Amino acid sequence: MVAPLLGLTFLFLCSRLVTTDTEVVKINHKGEVVYKDSSVYGVVGKAVILECGTTLPDLYIWSFTKPGTDAIKAVVYDLGKGPRIQKLAQTLGQLSIISKSAAVSIEKLPLSAHGLFTCQAFYDIENEPVVYYYYVHLTVRVPVSKPYLLMSDASPVEGSTMWMRCNLDNGTGPIQYVWQHETHRGNVSTVAQGNSSVINVTNVNRNHTGWYRCAVTNPVNSETSNRLWLDTIYGPDLPQIDVTPYSLTERGYSALERETVSLQCQAQSNPVSQYVWFYNNSQVYTGPQFTITKILRMHTGDYACLAQNTYLNTRSRKTISLTVYYPPDGSPSCSVEPALNHTSVRLLCSWPGGLPSASLHWTGDLKPVDPEESESGEQKPPASNTAIFLPPEGLTSGGSVYSCRGSHPALRQETECSTRTYVPPAEPVCFAYVTNNRQYLMLSCSWDGGAPKALVWWEGPGGQGKGGEETSNVLILRYGSARSGKPYTCHAKHPLLQQIKTCKLTLEAPVLLTQRRVVSVYEGSDVQLTCNLRDNYLPVTEITWFNNQGVGIRDTSKYRLLRTSAWANLTVRDTDETQDSGEYRCTTFNAVGGTEINVTLLVKKHPMPPNATLITAMYNSRQRNEVELEWQVQDEEHGGWTGFILEHKWVSEQPGRRRSNHSQEPTLERIAPPPWYRNFIQDPDVRGHTVVQLTPTMTYQFRVTPVNHRTIGHPSAAKTPAEPSSNMYPAVIGAAIGGMLFAALLTALLLVFIIRNRNNNPRLHDMLFGSQHSQSRENINFPEDEMVRGSGGGMEEIGGSSSSGPSMALPRAASPLTISPMSATPSSSPSSHAPPPGDDNEPVNVTITVKATGS
Ligand SMILES: *[C@@H]1O[C@H](CO)[C@@H](O)[C@H](O)[C@H]1NC(C)=O
Ligand SMILES: *[C@@H]1O[C@H](CO)[C@@H](O)[C@H](O)[C@H]1NC(C)=O
Ligand SMILES: *[C@@H]1O[C@H](CO)[C@@H](O)[C@H](O)[C@H]1NC(C)=O
Ligand SMILES: *[C@@H]1O[C@H](CO)[C@@H](O)[C@H](O)[C@H]1NC(C)=O
Ligand SMILES: *[C@@H]1O[C@H](CO)[C@@H](O)[C@H](O)[C@H]1NC(C)=O
Ligand SMILES: *[C@@H]1O[C@H](CO)[C@@H](O)[C@H](O)[C@H]1NC(C)=O
Ligand SMILES: *[C@@H]1O[C@H](CO)[C@@H](O)[C@H](O)[C@H]1NC(C)=O
Repeated sequence: MVAPLLGLTFLFLCSRLVTTDTEVVKINHKGEVVYKDSSVYGVVGKAVILECGTTLPDLYIWSFTKPGTDAIKAVVYDLGKGPRIQKLAQTLGQLSIISKSAAVSIEKLPLSAHGLFTCQAFYDIENEPVVYYYYVHLTVRVPVSKPYLLMSDASPVEGSTMWMRCNLDNGTGPIQYVWQHETHRGNVSTVAQGNSSVINVTNVNRNHTGWYRCAVTNPVNSETSNRLWLDTIYGPDLPQIDVTPYSLTERGYSALERETVSLQCQAQSNPVSQYVWFYNNSQVYTGPQFTITKILRMHTGDYACLAQNTYLNTRSRKTISLTVYYPPDGSPSCSVEPALNHTSVRLLCSWPGGLPSASLHWTGDLKPVDPEESESGEQKPPASNTAIFLPPEGLTSGGSVYSCRGSHPALRQETECSTRTYVPPAEPVCFAYVTNNRQYLMLSCSWDGGAPKALVWWEGPGGQGKGGEETSNVLILRYGSARSGKPYTCHAKHPLLQQIKTCKLTLEAPVLLTQRRVVSVYEGSDVQLTCNLRDNYLPVTEITWFNNQGVGIRDTSKYRLLRTSAWANLTVRDTDETQDSGEYRCTTFNAVGGTEINVTLLVKKHPMPPNATLITAMYNSRQRNEVELEWQVQDEEHGGWTGFILEHKWVSEQPGRRRSNHSQEPTLERIAPPPWYRNFIQDPDVRGHTVVQLTPTMTYQFRVTPVNHRTIGHPSAAKTPAEPSSNMYPAVIGAAIGGMLFAALLTALLLVFIIRNRNNNPRLHDMLFGSQHSQSRENINFPEDEMVRGSGGGMEEIGGSSSSGPSMALPRAASPLTISPMSATPSSSPSSHAPPPGDDNEPVNVTITVKATGS
C-alpha cells in the first residue's frame, strides 16, 4: 500500500539518505529515491511521534493513506517556509510538528489516525538532492476495558454443565483471557487461560464453588473483572455418623449403660443438610447432633440419620446399630455339683444377664476341662457360665474353697464368688413312716448338707430298691409288701469320700405289753389299763383301745385315753360292776403286721358292811320332837363300814288302811309308801345321834343301816322310839312296826335303784354316798394286786398265763430306733424277740422293729 509516487517527489532531490531506524544508509547518488519502512504503535487518546529522518530535511511532505483506500492525502508539508498543516490533519488528532525536525506529534491519538503515514523528505537540494520516502505504519490501539463476568447459572447443580463468559466492551486484540478461581479459603488459582472469552464447565462439582474473575490482557493493558460467586448445589452425600464415646464392635457401635452418648451426623450438602434422626424407624430427633443422656439398655437398636437437601429435595440416609452394654445383676454365683456318678465334682460359675455376657474365670490353678462335655461334643457353654471339672484324685475329704471372678466392661471392678466342697457334717439318717390312708410304707433316707449333695439310694430285700437321688431318697412300698425281718439298706455316696456310707432299716411287726392282764377294782373307783409297745417301732399306727363292748374308745367322760407313740393308757372312770366289767382290747399294727392284747377288767362290789342293831330309840322330852338313837355294830373289830344311814318314817295313824298283803311284789310305781327320812352319818366311829324336828303328833319308826362306799348294808330292825315316861301304846307301836318293815324293804329297793342308776341320776347318788369316791377314799386292797406283786412285779404279757415266765421277761431292746449307720453292730436277729413257740396265747409275729445299723 505504498504510494510509489508523490506529486512532490521530483521537487526534492536529496543527496543524503536518512533513515528513521538506526542505520542511515547512503544509497547512491544516481538520483534514486530511498524508501524506509517503520511501524509505530500508538494508543488511542495518547500522544505519538512519527519520525521523519533524523535531521531536518530541506523539504518534506507528510501524507496519510487510510487503510482500505489507495488515496494518499497530504497532512502537512514544509517547503522551507514553515510547516503548512492541512485540513485533513484535524481528523487525525491534535497534530503538530516538532520544531527543528520533520517529526509529527499527535496528541490524543484518535482511532482514525490508524493508517499509513508517509513522509517524503528532500535533502541537499542545493547540491545534489537526495529524496527519502519514510513509510510510517501507525497502529492505533484501544486498551481493554474492565471486563465483566457472566455465568449461564450461578447456582448450578453438581453434575450439570454451565459456561462462563468474560465480556469486554473495548480493547484491541489480540486479547488474552485468564480465568481465576478463589476458594472461600482464599486460595486463588488459574483455571483457564487463552483467547476465548467463554469457558464451558461440564460436570460441575462442588470444588467449582467459589469466586470467579477473569482478567483480559491486550498489548496495551490488562483489566480484571469483579469477582462473581459460583454456588454449586449438591448433596446431601451419604451421611457420616460419629458416635461419642467411640466404641466399635463387630456388631456395630456399643455404649455402656448410663453413659451419655452423642450421635453426630454429617452429610455434605449445599445448601446445608437438614437432619432427622430415627430410632428403629421412628423419628426421635431433628438436628445434626442427637444426644442421649444416661442411655439405657432399652435404647439398643438401629439409629438412622436422614439428611435432606431442601433445595434439591434430595435425601440420603445412614443407619448404624448401637448396642447398650449393661452388666449382669448382682454378682456371679458359684456352685458345685457332682460329676462322674458322684465320684468327682464340677464347679459351676454363672453370672447370667448382662450384655455382653460377663467373662468368668476360676482363680487358682484350675484348668477348665470337662470330660463329659468334651466327650459329648457339646458346644462351649455360653460365656455367662463356666464350669470346671475336678478330677477325683484331687479331692480330699476336708473340702476346699474355690473362687470365680467375673468381669464386665460396664463394671469397674471385678466381682467374685466362692464355693466350697465339704462332706455332710452328720451321718445318713434312715426312718420309716406310713401314709395316712395306710396305703404305703415310706422308707426315707437322707444325708443332709455337704457340697455337692450326696447321692442316696436304696437296696432292699427281694430286689426292692430305688436308684440314686441327691441328699434324700424315699423308698415307697405298698403297705403289705414290706419284707419283715430283712434289712433295707440305704447307701450314700459323697464325691469327697471314697467309701459309701450305709444305714439299714429292718421292719418288724409290733409286740404289745400290758402291766396286768387282769385288773380288779372295786366299784366306783377309776382304773387304768396300760398297753405299751415292747420296742420303739416305726411310728406306724397309734395304739387303739376297744371297750368291753368291742367299741373303739375315744376320750369321753367315761374313758380317758392317754397316748404316746409308745403306749396308750386307758382310764375307766367311776367303774361300775355291771357296765364296765369285761374284756378290753388294745391293738396296733404296722406295715408288716398287727397285734392285740386283751385286758380283763373285774369291777367288784365292796363287801357288805356288818349288820348294826339299833339298841336305843327314845324321845328325849315330852315334846316328842327329838329322838335319841344309839346303835351298835356287829363284828366291830373287822371294820368294813364308812358310815351309817339313820332313817325314820311316820307310821300310819290308821293302820287298818294299810295293806298287809306281802305276797304281792311291791314296786315304786305302784305303791307310794311313807318315805324314810334319812340322816347320813359319815363317821364310822359314831354310835349315837339325836334326830330333831319331829312332829310330836306322829308316830315314827327308826332304823340304822351301815354303809361303805357304794355298798349299803342290811338295815337294822326298825324301832319305835320310847316315850320318856313309861306310857306305851302297844297297839299303836305294833302297827307301826308292821308298817316300818314294809317301808324298809321299799327303801332298800330304792337305794339299789339309785346306785344302779347313779350315772343317770348322779345327784341322788351323791346325796346318798357323798360326791367323793376317789380312789383314795375308796382305797381298798385288791387281792389280785397282791397276787401280781407276788409274781415278781414283772409285766404281764397278753395271752400268757401268769406262769408264762419267759414271755414276761422279754428284755426291752435298748432304743431300737436308734440309727447308728457307721456302727458295726449287726442288727439283732428278729427271732430273738419272737415269743416262745408253743404258747398259744402269745401274740403273733406282729411288730415292726426298726433297727438301723451301719457298715
Ligand atoms: C469504548 O470506546 C468508545 C469509542 O471510542 C467509547 O465511547 C467508550 O466509552 C469506550 N468504552 C470503554 C468502556 O472504555
Ligand atoms: C462451549 O459449549 C458450546 C456449546 O455448548 C460450544 O459451542 C462452544 O464451542 C464450547 N466452547 C468451548 C470453549 O468449549
Ligand atoms: C474436590 O477437591 C478435593 C481436594 O481438593 C478432591 O479430593 C475431590 O476429589 C474433589 N472433588 C471432586 C468432585 O472433584
Ligand atoms: C429396636 O430394634 C432392636 C433391633 O431390632 C430391638 O432389639 C429393640 O428391641 C428395638 N427396640 C424397640 C423399642 O422396639
Ligand atoms: C454309679 O455308682 C453306683 C454306686 O457306686 C453304681 O451302682 C452305678 O452303677 C454307677 N453308675 C454309673 C453309670 O457308673
Ligand atoms: C402309762 O403306762 C405306762 C406303763 O405301761 C407307764 O409307764 C406310764 O407312765 C403310764 N402313763 C401315764 C400317764 O400314766
Ligand atoms: C345280818 O342281817 C341280815 C338280815 O337282817 C341277816 O340275813 C344276816 O344273816 C345277818 N348277818 C349276820 C352276820 O348276822
